[in-house]
Amino acid sequence: MTRVRLAAETDFSGFRAAARDLLRQGVEPRDVEFAVAGHEPGLFEDAPAGGGPTASSRPVPAVSRAFLSTIASASLHREPARFALIYRILWRLVDEPGLAQVASDPDVARLGALAKAVRRDIHKMHAFVRFRAVEGPDGEAFIAWYEPDHHVVEAAAPFFARRFASLLWTILTPERCVRWTGDALEYSDGVDRAVAPTGDDLEDLWRRYYASVFNPARVNPTAMRAEMPRRFWRNLPEAQLIQDLVAEAPSRAAAMVAAAPTLPVARRGAKLVDEDAERSEAAAPGLPALADRIQGCRECPLWEPATQGVPGEGPAHAALMIVGEQPGDEEDLAGRPFVGPAGRLLDRALAQAGVPRDAVYVTNAVKHFKFEPRGKRRIHKKPEAREIRACLPWLEQEFTLVRPDVVVMLGASAAQAVLGHTVAVTRVRGEVLDLAEGRRGLVTTHPSYVLRLPDREAAEAAFEALVRDLAQAWALARPA
Ligand code: URA
Repeated sequence: MTRVRLAAETDFSGFRAAARDLLRQGVEPRDVEFAVAGHEPGLFEDAPAGGGPTASSRPVPAVSRAFLSTIASASLHREPARFALIYRILWRLVDEPGLAQVASDPDVARLGALAKAVRRDIHKMHAFVRFRAVEGPDGEAFIAWYEPDHHVVEAAAPFFARRFASLLWTILTPERCVRWTGDALEYSDGVDRAVAPTGDDLEDLWRRYYASVFNPARVNPTAMRAEMPRRFWRNLPEAQLIQDLVAEAPSRAAAMVAAAPTLPVARRGAKLVDEDAERSEAAAPGLPALADRIQGCRECPLWEPATQGVPGEGPAHAALMIVGEQPGDEEDLAGRPFVGPAGRLLDRALAQAGVPRDAVYVTNAVKHFKFEPRGKRRIHKKPEAREIRACLPWLEQEFTLVRPDVVVMLGASAAQAVLGHTVAVTRVRGEVLDLAEGRRGLVTTHPSYVLRLPDREAAEAAFEALVRDLAQAWALARPA
């Protein structure tokens, strides 16, 4: 038996290196055991990778970026057998190069389920961490206690670093703690779950933690504050968000932490997410899987500053599909398309056109929010042609799964994605276009355009025109 000892639960690069060696040496999956240092006392002390029987050497299989991202996510699951599963899949890929696409294969299905659970856990952590403001040795700091289900602290932390870049914050968890020093993320061992703090205990725990990790050579918050005096902090989006999070709790300190994402809140959130997923899976097996894969998309750089990918939403098979440009600020936070101001206008237009929104599949040409930070706000930026192109495979898969008869393109970016070339919206609007596979398409104005019109009369006219186009599309999709 070949025993591989990984340095940590999240040691994916160690796993990859060991797996590569093992494959080259032809070590069969049944002859390998993976364990994480510290979790099997004594057993793996001196067991280097690759000590087992060598059959015939195997090439290291090539895997797509998307599948690698699924593997990397699955490797963060709490399931102890996950590394053995991944190694078995890598081994099989040599003889079965199409394996990753065989969703019914038990190994592939299990891998997908693990990856999905991990991605959900990361989202939950982003959504449920609640910070509490404390006065620390270096001035104001923000602390939170959280208990993730899987090994996701490192994967989730960069989101907080981007969101709260100007603040000093710490998230304490039973497995790993992470601290933002103002310019770097620092990780350290977790805090005993048995001391899960509530109320002022959290502050005590944080002070002890802080004292244990404090490294004056590496942190200079005084200099940081000198560059950014505290009176300006309230103007920063991050500070505002933190205040909002803190203010969400019903009363003062103790209640804040009681309402923080300790178990009851996290469990409530998780359950809601799971119920939703089960419902939509029953309705459309392919769409939830697609939504999951969108979260792992790295085909263009837009994923990085965004909170999450925003997949389409609607019935499994909708006669009418509406394609927008890209999620906006609210959609990015909610993870759902058209829920912000443009979405509210679209809802009104649909209602006026007699189109039930829940009968329509609504999506976007680009699945991540492209923006430019400006002061407190994230300002929408139009996606470029290469970003639309990079996102096209997702839209194409939505077409394949949803099989709409009619596609409404809201604005130029949507038209560019669906038609494959640029068009002047005003020139083609209202024209019924022939699309691939017998579908028909209509280009109309984007609701945001209507919202931006400064003149009330012009805005009303544009809204009426949008209503007419939606009614026409609905009539095409549902002939009397
Ligand atoms: N604008 C879009 O194009 N899509 C959304 O989801 C929201 C605003």
